Amino acid sequence: MKQTFIIIVTCGLLACNQQTKKIQVLQNRMDSLQKKLSDTYKPGFGEFMSAIQAHHSKLWFAGKNENWKLADFEVHEIMEGIENIQKFQTERKESQMIEIIYPALDSINKAIQQKNFSLFKSSFTLLTNTCNNCHRAANFEFNVVKIPDTQPFSNQVFKVNASN
Ligand code: HEC
Repeated sequence: MKQTFIIIVTCGLLACNQQTKKIQVLQNRMDSLQKKLSDTYKPGFGEFMSAIQAHHSKLWFAGKNENWKLADFEVHEIMEGIENIQKFQTERKESQMIEIIYPALDSINKAIQQKNFSLFKSSFTLLTNTCNNCHRAANFEFNVVKIPDTQPFSNQVFKVNASN
């Protein structure tokens, strides 16, 4: 009886030991995954904004040339940038303000659908003012955006070409 008891306790202890080892292995794996995750490159708020800046400029020249397919592409690139800020920059309080840009983007989308340059122009002005309003609200008032006067990329065609 005593012997059986000792055997049971020993087996129990061994099983417990195995369990502890397994937990330790899992813990190590979790720690290394956590480290990998925190070392993963994530673009900063300013980098997302720089990409949005390029698309803001391209959008203007696409609209100005009534190249509606390109304009549609560019406005969606801006929307993607905004969504990325909402997804990847949750720790920045400014991200909560980003949705103030949606009415201007909706208006641009409408102008593109209607192929209406005068609506496009007023919507683009609204968009640009909204960029600046948010910069002011975020204490980045020194960061002023305007309607561009020269094409941003000389290696891209903004006019509607034969293939469009
Ligand atoms: C949340 C409100 C908000 C909106 C809306 C917004 N921005 Fe910004 N923007 C910021 C903040 C905050 C920064 C500073 C980012 C940083 O800390 O690097 C910034 C930075 C920038 C920069 C500087 C990037 C650099 O590193 O040189 C540009 C250019 C810019 N924004 C363009 C735009 C344009 C164009 C729009 C509109 C289409 C826009 N922003 C809309 C908040 C906003």
